[in-house]
Amino acid sequence: MEKERILVVDDEPGIRSFMSRIVQTLNYDHLEASDGEEALQLYMKHGADLIISDVRMPNLDGLGLLEQVRMMNPEQVVIMVTAFDDSDTVKKALKAGAYDYINKPLDLDEVIYSIKRGMEKVRFLKKLKDYQNNLEKQVAKQTKQIKKVFAGALSALANALEAKDVYTQGHSKRVTALALEIARKMHLSPMQVEQIKLAGMFHDIGKIGIKDNILNKNGSLTPEEFAHIKKHPQIAVDIIGDLIDKEILDIVLYHHERYDGGGYPAGLKGENIPLGARILAVADSWDAMTSERPYREALPTAVAIEEIKKNAGTQFDPQIVDVFLDIITYEKDTRQPKDQVFHGMLEAVN
Ligand SMILES: [Fe+2]
Repeated sequence: MEKERILVVDDEPGIRSFMSRIVQTLNYDHLEASDGEEALQLYMKHGADLIISDVRMPNLDGLGLLEQVRMMNPEQVVIMVTAFDDSDTVKKALKAGAYDYINKPLDLDEVIYSIKRGMEKVRFLKKLKDYQNNLEKQVAKQTKQIKKVFAGALSALANALEAKDVYTQGHSKRVTALALEIARKMHLSPMQVEQIKLAGMFHDIGKIGIKDNILNKNGSLTPEEFAHIKKHPQIAVDIIGDLIDKEILDIVLYHHERYDGGGYPAGLKGENIPLGARILAVADSWDAMTSERPYREALPTAVAIEEIKKNAGTQFDPQIVDVFLDIITYEKDTRQPKDQVFHGMLEAVN
């Protein structure tokens, strides 16, 4: 273990060497300075566990030194050496954060006692700091673990939905990939991108609460059945509401809102719909149209593009449609089959 260090500050060489000898006898490292300025330089360069400083000194005096040092390290232990009967200075020093004071003329026993007491304080503070650091590390470790369990629980839920609803298989991942592509092109903040990523993965989780025969029905839905399906965003909130942030939850809850206010569940309009939900709405519809369903073939890309364009300003936020078209047109130009294009995007999600 490294030796503890004491900085002795006094303008009188006799007192300085007297102090230094005591410090050495007690087996501490020591540094010496003849005024506050010099002490400050040494302190900044080497540091010190304990400082014993005279008050009256040229250049920077003891109280000035105390003030500067405590500004750099509010926990620095400092012992002041004051003239006998100078109770005003003692008061000032203690008020400024000095740990203790010793009266001149110096008494050997008193000096030793004060140094030992000061060092006990230094060690106590070090232990406390170690304990706090350790605690922080443990909290960070536990937080990581909780996040892992949380992510596992959410994945289990997503898997449960995929087992129940064939159509969802791969759908959430593809929607998330496209939504992320749009979000990045719109230069959203890393935090917003992360929120959209989570919301995308779980946007349809509420379908767990939808009856199987309706979820997997071949053919069009009756109004009652459609009303039941429309409950899935709210069911998602009921299931994962306590687990994730409100911003993410709102994206999930409002991913079926329409730009013109005719969507569900709340009938929000325009910019009142969270941005992430408006992005997800485009990505979700695109994937729904271009994926094969049990009762119909996937729409050709060109038809699906026209459909999205046609609904800009009514169902979708037109600005987001523009960004989406940039992405999709660019991909069309690469003449890659759609699956390959999305494969590239999916890597970003995984
Ligand atoms: Fe949905």
